[in-house]
Amino acid sequence: MEENLEGWEAFHGKAIASKDYRMDWEREREHAYLKEVLKWSEGKHRLFEWCCGRGGDALVVNHFKPDAWMSVLDYSPVAIEFAKARFRKEGLIANAVCGNVYDLPFPDGAFDFSFSQSSFSNLEKPDLALKELVRTLEKNGFLMLCAANSMRPDGSWLYRHAIKLGYFQTEYSIAELREFGVKHGLTPIGYFGYQNCYFLINQFLKKVGVKQEGRTKVLSKLNALPLPVGLKLFVGVVFRK
Ligand SMILES: C[S@@+](CC[C@H](N)C(=O)[O-])C[C@H]1O[C@@H](n2cnc3c(N)ncnc32)[C@H](O)[C@@H]1O
Repeated sequence: MEENLEGWEAFHGKAIASKDYRMDWEREREHAYLKEVLKWSEGKHRLFEWCCGRGGDALVVNHFKPDAWMSVLDYSPVAIEFAKARFRKEGLIANAVCGNVYDLPFPDGAFDFSFSQSSFSNLEKPDLALKELVRTLEKNGFLMLCAANSMRPDGSWLYRHAIKLGYFQTEYSIAELREFGVKHGLTPIGYFGYQNCYFLINQFLKKVGVKQEGRTKVLSKLNALPLPVGLKLFVGVVFRK
């Protein structure tokens, strides 16, 4: 666990130092994901982004839902301090907490919509996290589970070995995510997938010296190709409590 947190601290620190925390291709990926968040959070007002990282998604969601009350949580002090400073700068009044998703510092039924981009596949104890996420969700509230996709055709394990991550990472299929939610008493109400499989292509282009601008062009084209939802880089399931 500690080792994993160290890995995340290093990851966030590097991203902040390089000012590389929002790359163009990333923004494009997030557009598709955030579209799902905005669609499913319609009519919801107490939003919770668990494992929020450096807070970029919360800022965008708040931009489109300025009347919603936003809480965010991450266990990385580096990430959460950065998120707080960013929120202050952008005028987002949010409840930003440094805490663990396995032991949420919120009362039962505190939120009506909980979401997090891809983080479910970074959790070593997914059942413990789900127990807490379900507890803090009010009846009829929605929970979005989103993860790296184990069904991606270019091989999720290959990606993991190529990138050499300093933190825990696994992958799930849509069916596996659905099973998790059902096991915890939730009702699946929607499915989604976003981004095509191009992390390895990005790495390859970088290695052979293609600059960011060129890579963005190639990756945008690839991303626009039609691909079935279940084969996208990230997949997700939306549940009702
Ligand atoms: C893949 S990042 C996603 C960050 C954010 N959702 C985004 O898309 O930019 C996963 C995040 O989970 C956080 N994390 C991992 N394990 C955690 C835990 N047990 N409790 C709270 N946060 C955790 C990490 O610090 C990291 O910020």
